[in-house]
Order: sequence, then C-alpha cells, then structure tokens
Amino acid sequence: MGSPQVVPLKAALGARIEGLGHADAAKPEIAAILCRALAENLLVVVPGNRMTPEQMRNFASAFGKPKPQVLRYKRSGDVPEVSIMVSTLMTDGTTDKTALRSEDWHTDDSYMVTPAKATLLHSIELPSHGGMTWFCNMHSVYEALPEATRRRIDGKRAIHAYDTQRARNRPSQRTAQEIAETPDVEHPLVRTHPETGRRALYLNFNRLDRIIGMERAESDALLDELAAEARKDKHHYGHPWELGDVVIWDNRATMHRVDVDYPAGEPRVMQRVLIEGDRPY
Ligand SMILES: [Fe+2]
Repeated sequence: MGSPQVVPLKAALGARIEGLGHADAAKPEIAAILCRALAENLLVVVPGNRMTPEQMRNFASAFGKPKPQVLRYKRSGDVPEVSIMVSTLMTDGTTDKTALRSEDWHTDDSYMVTPAKATLLHSIELPSHGGMTWFCNMHSVYEALPEATRRRIDGKRAIHAYDTQRARNRPSQRTAQEIAETPDVEHPLVRTHPETGRRALYLNFNRLDRIIGMERAESDALLDELAAEARKDKHHYGHPWELGDVVIWDNRATMHRVDVDYPAGEPRVMQRVLIEGDRPY
C-alpha cells in the first residue's frame, strides 16, 4: 500500500485520510503523516471497519500516549484507555446525562491541569439518522475577534471547573475519589498551539467558569461575547457519521458538540480514546 492521501474538507477545518487501513496507522512513517495532518487541519477522518478496543488503542497510539478517563464506569473492561460512550436516547427519558451535556460546545478535559492533546471517536452503532458531531476551529475564532477584544483577552487566565453555573446542563455524578481528582484549574484564555505556533481561543462552555481578575458580571459579559463568535457557522464543520469512522480532533484548538436529534431507542455507541497532552501556554 502507498502513502495515505490527506484530502482537506471543504469546511472551516478537517481533512479526510484516503487509502489507510486502521491497522497501519501506528507505523512510524504513517503516524508522522497523521500527526502532521492533525496539527494542520485540526481534525482528521479515517473511514474503515469496526475495531475492537485493543485494535483502537493501537490505532490511537499513532497520535501519542492514550490515557484512561476519569469516570471509571465508562472504561471498557480489559482496555482502560478505551471508553465506551453510549449516547442512545432512552424511550423513558433516562439518557446518560453526559450525552446531553455534549450538546453544547466544549473541549475535552479542560478541567485538568494537562488536558488531552487529542480525542478519537470511533462509531460502533449509529441511529438511522441525526446525531452529527460538530467541530469549531478556535484559531479562526480568535483571528475573527475585533482587535480591541484580542487586546483585552491576551495574557488573561481563566478558571475551568468540573461544573459551572454557566453550563446549560449538569455533568455526570462523580465518586468521592473522582471528585478528589477534579479540583478547579487555571488555564490561559488564549493558548499557543505547540506544533504550529498559532494562537487559539481556549473556551469550554461546560467548564469555563470565570476570567481571573474580573468581577463575575464583567467576566460573564466578555465570555458571552467570545462565545457568540465561536457559535458562528463559518467556524464549523459537521461530521455525518458512517459506521467504522474514526474521527480525531485536536483539543488544543477546537471545540465540539453533538446534535441530540436522533430517534429514541436506536443505539448510538462510540469508542473513545483521549491522548495525553501538555500544560496549555
Ligand atoms: Fe467531548
């Protein structure tokens, strides 16, 4: 097999990888192509067949070191780095709350000192329609801000919490151990991509609580202004899932959300892997 082709999507971000079998991704020369495509396009789509958790852990290692997620109950039994994410809408209304919280724009892990560098999502079961995942290019959001706003936020830091009153929905319940592992953390409001040097607005509508050094009202108003830019369609790509797809996104410069618009009772199941990252700067 020749080198895989990186085909940029006609969208605000993303590229599709053609001619790559999932089993070959972790080969060093292929992994280098995938990592460069990710840094440059912020999202890559690799179509293919369904993988076992073990095959997915191996695929994910192309992008770095897979890390186990905080919520124990989601870990797949024999491969703790692979989580089983069930977002099926239950007919009795008892859908896992995490699925609903994913409805608003967020980046994974920002409540951690060293958030994930990238996330992989692999579709195992899909509803008959709906359930698109949307992605937002946070380089282009930052660059679209008025000069005066950029001056106001450059150098500012913000508090990210496991939950914030600013989020529309509440997160999953944590055990005492999981709560102890998730204290509030501080991150820059504008971060620099360590591989490309580009600056990105670092927002998370589910976790970002307030900007340090501002009163709550002033902080809320500024965060609302930044959020309004990020909500504009011109910064987005919506992924229509096919079974077996792997979508990998760069958490350092994107946000994502899901359309919870699919039929109740139809299974929607993904395998997810988070890749270890560095402290944002
Ligand atoms: Fe997420």
